Amino acid sequence: MAQQGLAALHESLSRYDLTDTTRQRLTEIQTASQVNLDTILSLMQKHGINPIPDEQLSQMNPGDLSEYFDLLLRDWAWDSTTNPNPENTAAFERTLADIEKLPQKPARILVLGAGAGRLSWDLHVRLQPEYTLALDANPLVLAAADELVHQRQTIAIGEFKNFPQIGFQHAHCWQLEPPHDTDNARSTWFPLGANVWQLPFARDSFDLIITPWFIDVNGGDVRDLIAIIYENLAPGGHWLNSGPLLFTRHLPVQLKYTATEIKEFLSLAGFTLIEESITNTDYLRSPLEARFRQEQVWTFRAAKPEARQEAPIIAGALTAWLVMHHLPIPKNNYSSKDSHPLIDAILSLVDGNRSINDICYEVGPHLPQDIPVKDVVVTLFGQILSE
Ligand SMILES: C[S@@+](CC[C@H](N)C(=O)[O-])C[C@H]1O[C@@H](n2cnc3c(N)ncnc32)[C@H](O)[C@@H]1O
Repeated sequence: MAQQGLAALHESLSRYDLTDTTRQRLTEIQTASQVNLDTILSLMQKHGINPIPDEQLSQMNPGDLSEYFDLLLRDWAWDSTTNPNPENTAAFERTLADIEKLPQKPARILVLGAGAGRLSWDLHVRLQPEYTLALDANPLVLAAADELVHQRQTIAIGEFKNFPQIGFQHAHCWQLEPPHDTDNARSTWFPLGANVWQLPFARDSFDLIITPWFIDVNGGDVRDLIAIIYENLAPGGHWLNSGPLLFTRHLPVQLKYTATEIKEFLSLAGFTLIEESITNTDYLRSPLEARFRQEQVWTFRAAKPEARQEAPIIAGALTAWLVMHHLPIPKNNYSSKDSHPLIDAILSLVDGNRSINDICYEVGPHLPQDIPVKDVVVTLFGQILSE
């Protein structure tokens, strides 16, 4: 995108019908774009990632990726001692207030969708746990966090706006500085590139899992995310969520759950909701913009009990394991009035331990790719239960 933008600017600047004022505006934007391109390429190269044109990627909408670029600025540029920006402080205070109420200081912390890492870093410095993993799937924001926190290098980033705003700069080149770290907190803070749907951890690995602005933008079903968090938390561990419910536009409306629905899922999964609050906050408020977004932030803390508890009865849910696909299906001699080898194969997998997800995992590879395996399995058990 940066390369394409630069090529377009180059072409515009070579026109004969410009005044000096226009030329100057375009030149400022060009300088900021060039700084970005250099920074992106150098960060990626340091981590062994070379830009190769990719047919599949070019068909994707890179909008979400470029939105996350601004996290670098919000986390590490807009907020300095000379130019304070309250957004990071507000996120820190919101989450810290809840963590300080935990019965025990968390030793092993996992932050899912940590972005450019500022919140996880600030919490890590304050809480001094055994370690914090700041996990994200976006290599650029992670590489930048690593460069600042671990390599102690400054990073240059250009910021420019698509709409001129009166009284504001068109473009600005920021120098992102490594954060102070007199106590070497970085030796136990790790940025980790990983996909939340394929986490590389053993079960029960963490005392605290934090999902800041993440449950709605991870490409999947919140119910499955709840299962993953439950599995990775140690018994007695806590999940702290803080963020809006803005759900990406690619997600079907059925999966754009309200807070009430999510609380039902939490209790079906075995979590105990400890507390919740709602606040409004500015989002990505740049010093270069008159416009800004306000978002509603839902913060809640839920505990994974020491021992699994009986799932509560939720109105309309035929049974907990049909709604929460990670829960074991109890053995019960299920039979269907329809006869088909696929039905027999699915039912033969019920052993009291396997869940709907486990069964999908086993039968999925044997079905044609266009068959939505989860729908097939859920519908089969739904029909059996309602009959
Ligand atoms: C809205 S941003 C929030 C970032 C940060 N927590 C904050 O509050 O600024 C969502 C983050 O989730 C990451 N993300 C999205 N899907 C993911 C996935 N499947 N696995 C890991 N990270 C993912 C994105 O790369 C992005 O950095």
